[in-house]
Amino acid sequence: MKILVVFHSKTGNTRKFAKMISERLIAEGHHVDSHELETVEPLNPKASPTSMNFELRNAPDPKDYEVVIAGSPVWAFRSAPLILKYIKETQSMKGVKLLPFFTMGFPLKGMGGTGAVNQLLRFALPKGAIPLKASIITYMLSKPDLQMERETARISELLR
Ligand SMILES: Cc1cc2nc3c(=O)[nH]c(=O)nc-3n(C[C@H](O)[C@H](O)[C@H](O)COP(=O)(O)O)c2cc1C
Repeated sequence: MKILVVFHSKTGNTRKFAKMISERLIAEGHHVDSHELETVEPLNPKASPTSMNFELRNAPDPKDYEVVIAGSPVWAFRSAPLILKYIKETQSMKGVKLLPFFTMGFPLKGMGGTGAVNQLLRFALPKGAIPLKASIITYMLSKPDLQMERETARISELLR
């Protein structure tokens, strides 16, 4: 399958998971492009963590892929804004399978992760995306590396 792994990461947790997913899918013979979202100007540290007042640099078109695996950290009990802006600015995701993934500090998915997935889907579903079960990795009081390994195996099985 032709797969895009597109993600934002500030401190590396989401990047680590994205890398693990990409490497596994490549090893299984998929064509995988990995793209870390960046803003043209650095994010204003004084802005609200949910502000979308920035411009994304060189974002790939999801319509070029069968599957888009889209990841972000949870910020302030929501999705950090880069991945939302990416989906918002996409023209169409008609027929594209979308698997969201999030990493978060708190130990319970309900403390921002589940809401972040729903928020992402609210942008993506009206564009025609077909949702696949999301992955949420929790850090505090958890074993994030083990969760990432299990979720990577689940994703690879799902796309087999
Ligand atoms: C501005 C900011 C807000 C955050 N808000 C939350 C939150 O509401 N809930 C949570 O579980 N973690 C929160 N975190 C922790 C991150 O979600 C967590 O560390 C995540 O794994 C970071 O991903 P990254 O390393 O890819 O940037 C926040 C982190 C930052 C920097």
